[in-house]
Amino acid sequence: MQDKYGRTITYMRLSVTDLCNLRCRYCMPEEGVEKLTHPEMLTEDEMVDAVQAAADLGISKIRITGGEPLVKKNILSVCGRIGQIEGIEETAITTNGTLLPTLAVPLRKAGISRINISLDTLDPDKYAFMTRRGRFEEAWAGVMSALEAGFDKVKLNAVLIGGFNDDEIEEMVDLTRQYPLDMRFIELMPMLQDDEFGQSAHISGDEVLRRVPDLQPLSEQTLMSGQVARMYRLPGARGRVGLIDPLSHTFCSACNRIRLTADGKLKPCLHSSQEISIKGLDIDSMREKMREAIMAKPQEHGELNAGHRSEAGRQMNQIGG
Ligand code: 5AD
Ligand code: SF4
Repeated sequence: MQDKYGRTITYMRLSVTDLCNLRCRYCMPEEGVEKLTHPEMLTEDEMVDAVQAAADLGISKIRITGGEPLVKKNILSVCGRIGQIEGIEETAITTNGTLLPTLAVPLRKAGISRINISLDTLDPDKYAFMTRRGRFEEAWAGVMSALEAGFDKVKLNAVLIGGFNDDEIEEMVDLTRQYPLDMRFIELMPMLQDDEFGQSAHISGDEVLRRVPDLQPLSEQTLMSGQVARMYRLPGARGRVGLIDPLSHTFCSACNRIRLTADGKLKPCLHSSQEISIKGLDIDSMREKMREAIMAKPQEHGELNAGHRSEAGRQMNQIGG
């Protein structure tokens, strides 16, 4: 369905848990998050109902996020059931990859067609630092498992952090020569109140183009509906390079999505505190709430930069990016 500004909403991001086996410094506090109690969380049946309600309104693509979706015990069942809902043409997942060595093939079999893996560095020491507890080798093994499992698309997501991984941009872009995967660079969004990365950490996606002048633009640089990345390719490379620049190039006018959190709150906009609960409702009432959420989408989010953080009112692990 269309929102107030004529944008057709076809995409829902579903966060299935706010828990994670890592603690990335820009995403989560060291001590993790207080576990949501069972009665607060959507049940598996409610998630399936919510996707059915979304499909009734014309949503055809679902991306499953977290926290880390693969730490959820019933994740394969959730993915399988969602993929079978009439009207859902594509189910995708965003993961940190560490559990993919055992789960890549089962996820593919459960109908997941696309997979995004968060990987901010190729350096094991830096990986351990940024994730506070992760091992690079596990994440990399996950990337390889995803490539072998035959997904339609495998993408790596790196959050650009000045002074941390800007010296690895060339090496990361080079992965697109070696492997059939897309490498995407995401501008760091100021979410956390106690952000430990200062203003200097917020570097623009254009830095990638400065560092790798060989990148050729692939698409019109005006974004079509649902497109958040500006796309490039190295001559002869197997995969593409995408720049996702929510700060320097906002894409609100192309926004086609709503979000549903693990505790059952619809978020019309990532960077707004507005939330509409669907916990405990039947499908018909969920559908009405979703209509409400779509109509409540703001034209664009508030100012977002080092001096003005997101008004999301949640941390990223509680939204799912
Ligand atoms: N800014 C940009 N991206 C973020 N992510 C988590 N927190 C932030 C942030 N503050 C990314 C993760 C993952 C995706 C779900 O969101 O790295 O790729
Ligand atoms: Fe976990 Fe992803 Fe947040 Fe890192 S960015 S702590 S992997 S949810």
